[in-house]
Amino acid sequence: MMGRRRFLGLTGGAGLVLAASLAGPQLLPRRTSAGAVLRSAVPLPAPFQLPLVIPPVLAPATRDGDADRYEITAREATAEILPGLRTPIWGYEGVFPGPTIESRRGRTAIVRHRNELPVPTVAHLHGGHTPPESDGYPTDLVLPARGWAHGHHGMHDPQAVITTGARDYTYPLDQRAALLWYHDHRMDFTGPAVYRGLAGLHVVRDDEEDALPLPRGDREIPLLITDRAFAADGSFDYPSLDPTLTTTPGVTDTYAAGVLGDVVLVNGVPWPVHEVSATRHRLRVLNASNARRYELALDPPPPDGPAFVQIGSDGGLLRSPIAHESITTASAERHDVIVDFGRYPVGTEVTLVNRLGTGPTAQVMRFRVARRAPEDSAIPARLSEVEPLRREQAVVTRDFSFRSGHHGDRRGWLIGGRPFDTGYVAARPRLGDVEIWRFVADLHHPIHLHLANFQVLSRGNREPRPLDAGWKDTVDLEPGEAVEVITRFENYRGRFVFHCHNAEHEDMGMMATFETV
Ligand code: C2O
Ligand code: CU
Ligand code: CU
Repeated sequence: MMGRRRFLGLTGGAGLVLAASLAGPQLLPRRTSAGAVLRSAVPLPAPFQLPLVIPPVLAPATRDGDADRYEITAREATAEILPGLRTPIWGYEGVFPGPTIESRRGRTAIVRHRNELPVPTVAHLHGGHTPPESDGYPTDLVLPARGWAHGHHGMHDPQAVITTGARDYTYPLDQRAALLWYHDHRMDFTGPAVYRGLAGLHVVRDDEEDALPLPRGDREIPLLITDRAFAADGSFDYPSLDPTLTTTPGVTDTYAAGVLGDVVLVNGVPWPVHEVSATRHRLRVLNASNARRYELALDPPPPDGPAFVQIGSDGGLLRSPIAHESITTASAERHDVIVDFGRYPVGTEVTLVNRLGTGPTAQVMRFRVARRAPEDSAIPARLSEVEPLRREQAVVTRDFSFRSGHHGDRRGWLIGGRPFDTGYVAARPRLGDVEIWRFVADLHHPIHLHLANFQVLSRGNREPRPLDAGWKDTVDLEPGEAVEVITRFENYRGRFVFHCHNAEHEDMGMMATFETV
């Protein structure tokens, strides 16, 4: 029987970063990611050679009354990601990113997730307002259809609902139009599973958004950004303690603060190039990286006007557009932005750069402004209604610290001094109540709540930043920072999790259960 969890002695590079953070947040550069860079053992291709790929949209298996049924099989496959190299992946439908699901608000999507991988899976729809039995609680495993040689799953959770081969997840999707994503969420193994490819997009649309004159069709582009490192044989390199990924969770000590790759992939393509007309485009950016943060900017910047006009966030449209020169994004955040390529002369090559990167990771992709075309979009001054939640509405304030520390004789990533324990409920919010949750961090921690979107109320005792606007489900904490979020828990009673979305932190304990009552 394996141990419940291996905690890591955080030594080496990561340990130094942690020591610095414990000595005082002012010692840490704020403009970084928690983690260590893993270098590829293969030559990296020249950037901006390969065309951007848009993930395929999945057709429903059946459509009836008010539900669409989908079938997605997670399986092993091979992809040519770096030219001439074959990379084994774990893909939904055998592709990375997985196929995109397009849903309409209020129309239920029932997704049958089949598991043909050699390890258990758990599917979670990130940003979905989903009943607990379909939310992908980390021990609600789908065991491999073709059997699991390993035989036991090493967890002791009497409430877990374990199925073999497949599971139907029901998503009511009674929620605002937004870019959601689905990914693996198995306890202790989310990092390696997502790294091997288990992530895809799920777009929810509604009439309100459709009525706006935003760029659409091929002028609406999803950008799922990840970083990876490649081993000499072309495989994704992930510094697991256990290469079989079946027994021992965690990564080697150097990477305990997060695994950062040296290749930036957009929709699974290294540093792609994409031709655009000289018009507005809607870029729907998801940072699906395990641990890397990016500060996205345009090079050259447009000759006049802002680089980005943000129209939406994790939870859909903002009340009104917000201009930004750059967009800082942490794991799991979504930023829905308009870029007006009409500000550039035809022929301009506009590079999406990452100001937090160095060398190969300082670049993300390139747009080539290829031709003039009629402009058919506009950015309305009023986008949507966002009901502001007010401090006075809150019936309780809860405090949670996100830090590394000792639990027993091991170090790990802890919430309120505890590692993830399925038997411990950290909060029991009542349905209908408004609550303030106050988070304090030692390092960079992007904190994510399942079930409930929230609004950022304060950051470091000051006003939230412009990028904190709207409905969020993930908030990026800076080292040493405190953030208050306010939310209302609604509709579904049961247990859910909240956690750091740095996948390595999550796997090494930085997750907790809350139960709506
Ligand atoms: Cu994107 Cu709990 O997950
Ligand atoms: Cu989630
Ligand atoms: Cu974290």
